[in-house]
Amino acid sequence: MALSLTIDSPRLEKQLGALAAISEAPPPVVTRVLFSDADRRGRSFVKDLCREASLQVSEDAVGNLFARWSGKESQLTPIATGSHIDAVPNAGRFDGVVGVLGALEAVRSLKSAGFEPRRSIEIIMFTAEEPTRFGMGCLGSRLLSGALSPEKAAALRDPEGKTLDLWRTEAGYGKRPLTSVRLARNCYAGFIELHIEQGPLLERERVAIGVVRIIAAPSTLRVRLVGTGGHAGAVLMPDRHDALLAGAEIALAVEQAALCSGSPDTVATTGAFRIEPGAVNSVPSGAWLEIDLRDVQLSTRDAALRQIETAVRDICQRRGVEFQLERLNADAPATCDPELIKTVLSVCDELDLSAREMISRAYHDTLFMARLCPTTMIFIPCRGGVSHRPDEYSSPDQIRDGVLVLAQSLARLGV
Ligand code: GLV
Ligand code: MN
Ligand code: MN
Repeated sequence: MALSLTIDSPRLEKQLGALAAISEAPPPVVTRVLFSDADRRGRSFVKDLCREASLQVSEDAVGNLFARWSGKESQLTPIATGSHIDAVPNAGRFDGVVGVLGALEAVRSLKSAGFEPRRSIEIIMFTAEEPTRFGMGCLGSRLLSGALSPEKAAALRDPEGKTLDLWRTEAGYGKRPLTSVRLARNCYAGFIELHIEQGPLLERERVAIGVVRIIAAPSTLRVRLVGTGGHAGAVLMPDRHDALLAGAEIALAVEQAALCSGSPDTVATTGAFRIEPGAVNSVPSGAWLEIDLRDVQLSTRDAALRQIETAVRDICQRRGVEFQLERLNADAPATCDPELIKTVLSVCDELDLSAREMISRAYHDTLFMARLCPTTMIFIPCRGGVSHRPDEYSSPDQIRDGVLVLAQSLARLGV
């Protein structure tokens, strides 16, 4: 029997609005890049809410935040939920945030209903799910799961050359070493992340809840190009080694690699592209690209990855442009836990909410939590499938449904 729970949607909407206002850009744009002033203020906002809800708050050396509701039998392995609040430039207010503030609301609703968990329930707010500062997403959960070594993490550099170690020290997380972040396998009995779908299927099919069974395999390449600059009027065309043009050809090769992979699931994007010196009357001498490539099938993704790497070499050789090619990450897909999926589906059934299993084409911290413990995700519809844009939107009722499913699922696992 499902517990009788009340989700306080107006409170949650108010908190979503307040967090959206903590941004590096004016509303409705949300931008909260890792360890920016907005990201730090957003962290404090969430920390305060967790304390108000009488949760025990702690943070690790990379800024992952843990807010624990202690269970009656604290020796039992806890269960966990959570997501992220960092936001890519020009984002909306729901990506990640629904899974953090929604988890808090789920816990509050369980507390108000007088539910007392046997297992502790922990909300995790992960550091830098978005790859914005260092080109690598899921920094916090990668470190928690051991998918990224502390040495490699410490040396990560932003485009200006500033390391993660410097950034985290400035943000107040430098007292402990990054080696302290890693968690033991099976440290949680289960992890469930609530998130907006970021795709159109639930809305199109009028389904209230998606339950994730697989998360696509992401990868990221960073390419630095060094050509030869010069005067736009004086350097004749046969003498040029234009870094931008090499980069432009690479971006087209990236598109081709996805289009020709033989799978409709391959998606490839050159999402970051800077040039130097950036003057209209100077031949571009330098370029810097970041490329995102994903597929559900690892073999197809890896074949496309190799094709892009070969194209970078060929294009640069032909154009006389030097290059540095770095594979920032090339992760395997994650398979979610059939038992947890069953639990969430049966909660939806009891609540009379339509539900379907689905693939997540976006990545999430669950991709790495799946290396530690059984996981799944609860997706709610978002208007037009739009995400990573200021007009990203899920209605209060859609969010309430997701929070309710999360709360009931946590209650089942926590007893
Ligand atoms: C997460 O934001 C992703 O890029 O999938
Ligand atoms: Mn995102
Ligand atoms: Mn997200």
